[in-house]
Amino acid sequence: MTAIHPSILSADFANLAGELRRIPSADAVHVDVMDNHFVPNLTLGLPVVKAIRAATDLPLDIHLMIDDADRWAPGYAEAGCESVTFHAEAAARPRQLARTLRSHDAHAAMALKPATALDPYLDVLSELDMLLIMTVEPGFGGQAFMEEMLAKIAQARRAVDDLGGSVAVQVDGGISRDTILRAAEAGADTFVAGSAVFGSEDPDRAVAQLRQLAG
Ligand code: DX5
Ligand code: ZN
Repeated sequence: MTAIHPSILSADFANLAGELRRIPSADAVHVDVMDNHFVPNLTLGLPVVKAIRAATDLPLDIHLMIDDADRWAPGYAEAGCESVTFHAEAAARPRQLARTLRSHDAHAAMALKPATALDPYLDVLSELDMLLIMTVEPGFGGQAFMEEMLAKIAQARRAVDDLGGSVAVQVDGGISRDTILRAAEAGADTFVAGSAVFGSEDPDRAVAQLRQLAG
């Protein structure tokens, strides 16, 4: 099932509640948490996520680009976020962390930066609800889709299918009307889009268009 998750990184941070009302048909809201250590940018943290939680009924897809994910990720699950993604590079015990997230009734997801191979993490897959293949270097919106990630998306799809297919394959970075079909054909089923949605005059229409193009 194709899912479109608009990233509020490209939304108006002074009017988040209003921005969320512009994407009623989104499958979830993608929230980019950055700590200025794991990535060279700083966005928001748990207090703002709790305010977003109270402002919308849409499911929240939290993308943690922060160090020491083992320590901080569970708090987002406890706050009622439907899905929490930690980076493989920032988790000391990814299998255990995924189990902890699930024990708080959240979906557990793990992200891989472009330079991080999937192979060392294949044993984590069975603990996950979603695997995120980054298609840009994490940290900023509006970057170009990295075509060289298509092979990794395909590898992720094969690995997930080998397990029985219940793990979603998400892509994040540079997803637009020009790139979404290639990512879908490679095997992605869940698409984050920031600038392509909130840079559009009608964000909800952009969501519908992306969903249609993904097939
Ligand atoms: C980047 C973030 C993305 C970002 C994507 O580090 O993880 O979620 O918002 O922005 P676009 O869709 O503009 O590439
Ligand atoms: Zn993201």
